[in-house]
Amino acid sequence: MEQLRDRVAVVTGAAGGIGRALALALADEGMHVVVSDVEADAVEAVAEEVRSRGRRGLGLVTDVSQRDAVEELARRTWDEFGGCHLLCNNAGVIVMGSLEDRSDLDWEWVLGVNLRGVVNGLQAFVPRMLELEGERHVVNTASISGLVAFPLVGVYTTSKYAVVGLSETLHQDLGKHGIGVSVLCPGGVQTGILKADRNRPEELGGAARAQGTVRSVAGSAGADAAELIDPAIVARAVVEGVRADDLYIITHPRYRSLLEKRHAQLMAACDTAESRGLN
Ligand SMILES: NC(=O)c1ccc[n+]([C@@H]2O[C@H](COP(=O)([O-])OP(=O)(O)OC[C@H]3O[C@@H](n4cnc5c(N)ncnc54)[C@H](O)[C@@H]3O)[C@@H](O)[C@H]2O)c1
Repeated sequence: MEQLRDRVAVVTGAAGGIGRALALALADEGMHVVVSDVEADAVEAVAEEVRSRGRRGLGLVTDVSQRDAVEELARRTWDEFGGCHLLCNNAGVIVMGSLEDRSDLDWEWVLGVNLRGVVNGLQAFVPRMLELEGERHVVNTASISGLVAFPLVGVYTTSKYAVVGLSETLHQDLGKHGIGVSVLCPGGVQTGILKADRNRPEELGGAARAQGTVRSVAGSAGADAAELIDPAIVARAVVEGVRADDLYIITHPRYRSLLEKRHAQLMAACDTAESRGLN
């Protein structure tokens, strides 16, 4: 998607972190932006930042895990802007800790936002986007955790592998309609993700119970602030990736060796299968 100016973008999870940086970078490229999040005050502040850049900015409160809410987001976008050319399914949350200790509610919350949220975006927006003409694009935010598995983040990893797989298929399915698809796979970024449980609904476990877990595990896993990059760098990579129609948007090439190691293990498994007479 080469032309961004005067086109319309929708960004979920845009009240802070990567989503906010993305909304502002897209406004700087001349896009009108629908800024969507569960955090009402912050979402309006980011919409105002978009408007202060001379573009149209609309803040809408949307819980992406709720199908009806995402449908309403699409409906409002079409009503107010006449369409969406760039959909960024970015909202995401994390729980940490060893998999055998994770609860049903952990799974429900994280898969609800990270996977169901992307599916809801797809279901609500893509049929409408198919009716538009011209360049259109979808960006799904996964993670480096959608490409390699780290310990203690198994629920998150499951959700992000799913988003990568979904995006790889979507890229093929929508390519024939002229709609591009990218999957964003960042490593560590300086955002509020480690306080994700601030938005965890009471009926899915609430914030207080989960807080200690996320922060203490992040600390013991050695999450080092110095390793984290600025969200604006990620946003710039997304703008370039959308323009170039890249399927994978990688922001931390320093993790190349981890990808190579996984690939080598898969190739070795093929060698093993061949040596056992399979083809
Ligand atoms: N920060 C990192 O190191 C990192 C690395 C790889 C991938 N990511 C991914 O980037 C995306 C953005 O996360 P971030 O790091 O900017 O974190 P963040 O917590 O700063 O931003 C996430 C935003 O999503 C919103 N949100 C939470 N639940 C929501 C819901 N149900 N519906 C709508 N919005 C909701 C939050 O209010 C917040 O504004 C996520 O998908 C995350 O998994 C982050």
